[in-house]
Amino acid sequence: MASRKLTFNIFRHNPHDPGSKPHLQEYHLEETPRMTLFTALTRIQEEMDPSLNFDFVCRSAICGSCGMLVNGRPRLACRTRTAELPKKIALLPLPFFRLVADLSVDTGSWFREMGERVHSWVHTDRPFDSQTQEERMPNEKAQAIYELDRCIECGCCMAACAAAQMNGNYLGPAGLLRVARFLADPRDHRPDGEVYEVVATEDGVFGCVGFLACEDYCPKGLPFSTQLAYLRRKTALKGWRSAHKDGQASIASES
Ligand code: FES
Repeated sequence: MASRKLTFNIFRHNPHDPGSKPHLQEYHLEETPRMTLFTALTRIQEEMDPSLNFDFVCRSAICGSCGMLVNGRPRLACRTRTAELPKKIALLPLPFFRLVADLSVDTGSWFREMGERVHSWVHTDRPFDSQTQEERMPNEKAQAIYELDRCIECGCCMAACAAAQMNGNYLGPAGLLRVARFLADPRDHRPDGEVYEVVATEDGVFGCVGFLACEDYCPKGLPFSTQLAYLRRKTALKGWRSAHKDGQASIASES
């Protein structure tokens, strides 16, 4: 079968260059067997335009650095075969994140700040003792935590999220899933009031407008809808509300 001639329209802009204006640049490439967007972008960069910026590290859907809008949908470029796409392919940087240049965005700063907002570490008062054995937990618990811990921080869920585009402070599916991950962890002893303060706000779970595109576009298939519903239900529980009213130290006011 004759190979297809692909037309790429790629977003170009360098915000650090005062002379740069956002525009789409067209490139043409002959499709090869099992070609991915990573292969295509590398060929364009090596054979046509070394100034093109994009991010890749692992090429196996692990590092989360290659998220971009592919014909309008957030996807990992290293895992997207050109054969799944029409001959005309538009590539844009993920919205919501700070643009570095062309297809490269700064997801790292957002995820680091989000981790600080939700205190993304196990809270325990137990003193560290290097002589004690690992704390054991039932396999089902460990599996449940692992399921919520598979996020590769690619940012596709945030780019797909309508609420995040309207509210830059929204914790979003990625931030709320992180909260759920620590709620599932029996080693974490943070007071309920702390979690309530972060979750039960317009920047928390009440910011969600319910489209749930996060779940549609997460390349790892993370369970956003069930966890968002779980957090919403939990905010209605008496124990959570009263813990908050009792005036326990809040995560939000510390940070
Ligand atoms: S290059 Fe690592 S996820 Fe695509």
